[in-house]
Amino acid sequence: MKLIGPFKQIITLENLPLKGPLKDEQLTYIENGGIVVAHEQIVAVGDYTWLQKHYPDSELEIIENEQVLLPGFVDAHTHICFGGNRAKDFAMRLNGKSYLEIAESGGGIWSTVTQTRAKSEEELTAICLQNVQKLIQQGITTAEVKSGYALSVEGELKMMRAIKSAKDKASIDLIPTFLGAHMKPKDFDGSNRAYLDLLIEEVFPILQKEHLGNRVDIFVEQSAFSVEEGDYFLETAKKQGFELTVHADQFTPGGSHLAIKHQALSADHLEFSGEDEIAALALSDVVATVLPGASIGLGMQYAPARKLLDANCCLCIASDWNPGSAPMGNLLTQASILATFEKLSMAEVLAAITYRAAKALGLDDRGSLTPNKKADFISFETDDFRNIIYLQGQLQPAMVWKNGNRIFC
Ligand code: NIG
Ligand code: FE
Repeated sequence: MKLIGPFKQIITLENLPLKGPLKDEQLTYIENGGIVVAHEQIVAVGDYTWLQKHYPDSELEIIENEQVLLPGFVDAHTHICFGGNRAKDFAMRLNGKSYLEIAESGGGIWSTVTQTRAKSEEELTAICLQNVQKLIQQGITTAEVKSGYALSVEGELKMMRAIKSAKDKASIDLIPTFLGAHMKPKDFDGSNRAYLDLLIEEVFPILQKEHLGNRVDIFVEQSAFSVEEGDYFLETAKKQGFELTVHADQFTPGGSHLAIKHQALSADHLEFSGEDEIAALALSDVVATVLPGASIGLGMQYAPARKLLDANCCLCIASDWNPGSAPMGNLLTQASILATFEKLSMAEVLAAITYRAAKALGLDDRGSLTPNKKADFISFETDDFRNIIYLQGQLQPAMVWKNGNRIFC
């Protein structure tokens, strides 16, 4: 057993609702607190002196400087396993070309597919782990990672195996998601439906046999797969026992209704969700995951985060880190920026990158500092937790713990 502290403030995010708006007054904190951990879990959180008295046999991990403690952040949507970069696309966008125009002229997702196919499984694992290291420095203790940049049976399996081996080596939890249905590859000779059937018949069984991942995603959009195609794919994946998530409503609405129909864990993007989509998401258990990094990267509108919360959705904010639409890959900065445009309270932002983000991954064992939850937490060197959002990512974590062990600083 170990007692870690003292901390100037501990923001537990305990006992807060899963859905709907949150006021900053709901964000209670413990002053001069400590945290007791054992067997990778939280045992107790409370006043440091009280914990010293009640857990006298604990080994002490003393925190010298003034720090505040929070649950580790969860990044519930990333594409951090990829080859090459898309700086050329970015330059074209700055010159006025749209994301879809660039995709049609040979850039876009397909350009990353070419660059990713050229990498070996080992190289992809190494790239993924390098990016994971950057996530750890940002305080992320659980990250989802998608395939979707090889778009052939062998290529997608190579990606999923690379992600699996990164998962086995990483000091944080990686949650793999199969995104073979990112778009129909340009070199596939057949219909969208035939490509989806190929994935269903030839990739799904191997994902299950080799335990490469139990989550399936699809990009439902004019430039990728239609609502009808998405409906078929998601229904089949669900029947075969996969958890679902959907790239939904990024440029046109439609995908979020499919996410609801097939009881996906989350509908992600939502930049073009309208009143109907927001109302339907609010009535469902689907987490509304918004990706401000893609709006910043593409220079387009943010998802209606305020409206989603006011309608009583469970709002998650994720980075969407990818080489095309969201190259920044900094969740805290993006969430802080989204908050200024969408008028999100600090409580709503912190919930959206901790316990509500865990919910988007179907995980209820993390995301708040509560006894029996995973001992995943991060500290910032400051005397007031509000500085974390206020400084928009300039203040980075001082220390990061995973399963009770310090993995950074
Ligand atoms: O989530 N929207 C589709 N997929 C990614 C972008 C992929 C890319 O441009 O490489 C996204 O934004
Ligand atoms: Fe994405």
